Amino acid sequence: MDQPRHVPVLLDRVLELFAPALHGKPAIVVDTTLGMGGHSDALLSAHPELTLIGLDRDPQAIEMAGKRLARHGDRVHLVNVTYDHIDEAVEDLGFSKVDGVLMDLGVSSLQLDEEERGFAYSKDAPLDMRMSKGTGMTAADVLNTYGHGDLARILSTYGEERFAGKIASAVLREREKEPFTNSGRLVELLYAVVPAASRRTGGHPAKRTFQALRIEVNGELESLRLALPAALGVLGIGGRIVVESYQSLEDRMVKQALAELAKSKTPPGLPVELPGHGPEVKLLTKGAELANEQEIEDNPRAAPVRLRAAERIGAPR
Ligand SMILES: C[S@@+](CC[C@H](N)C(=O)[O-])C[C@H]1O[C@@H](n2cnc3c(N)ncnc32)[C@H](O)[C@@H]1O
Repeated sequence: MDQPRHVPVLLDRVLELFAPALHGKPAIVVDTTLGMGGHSDALLSAHPELTLIGLDRDPQAIEMAGKRLARHGDRVHLVNVTYDHIDEAVEDLGFSKVDGVLMDLGVSSLQLDEEERGFAYSKDAPLDMRMSKGTGMTAADVLNTYGHGDLARILSTYGEERFAGKIASAVLREREKEPFTNSGRLVELLYAVVPAASRRTGGHPAKRTFQALRIEVNGELESLRLALPAALGVLGIGGRIVVESYQSLEDRMVKQALAELAKSKTPPGLPVELPGHGPEVKLLTKGAELANEQEIEDNPRAAPVRLRAAERIGAPR
């Protein structure tokens, strides 16, 4: 049985939002963030005719979810790519439009639990944080090579860290003595720099810095910026997109991308919609939906979630 920490976030709501687009037909869904395959498994079980395309940048996620989803046989296709390649992945499998796209952003419990990958500040581990194992810069590389300005910028922008400048100065000072390799030393530095008083409201002093490093190392916002139009582009009429974000920059990007397509492009004042100028999508959520207390109790990872969903109602303009 699943441990509580592996419960897919807002699973019932996700199933409910997709149901009208998938019910009673051989539909296709792309789960762009397969992770441990929790959402995918539930979707495949709920819709016996469904074909699922699962994407993940983490080869380990592909392998583990592959085993979990094996019982669904040839209804499952898994591809080890970043989600901004959604259109190519769909096309390479011989499909054109799909009926659903799910994006459950961020890191998986699997990644957080694997100490040696360095995502968790609660354990002393190498400062790695790469989701696509073994490729690109590590968190240690960022700490040891970025200038003060860039370091402060990522901490402030991606971590919304109030003490970004002070932390960047301390990192530059400390790395002169010895380069950073492990998370323990960084956590110690953050305990020293982030004032104790701010912990009562801001949580663990390492939380925001670790988030910022993870976003930078994995180019998460750039990947999402490219992925949203690509995902909306493969969604057929009547198809639905559901996105779960866990921090405000991601949620803002999702909100703006959906709001833009939900607007009519017919010049104001015209009595009728000009052909090809109507809204492309209808929003299915009013603002962002949050997890309720029970869901957060069952699954603490649900606490920061912001869920938004939309249905494609018109062809791409
Ligand atoms: C929150 S987990 C998904 C959990 C999944 N919904 C479940 O039920 O098990 C997010 C997953 O997205 C993957 N991921 C993050 N950024 C990605 C990207 N740019 N492209 C593809 N996968 C990505 C991570 O490797 C991780 O496995």
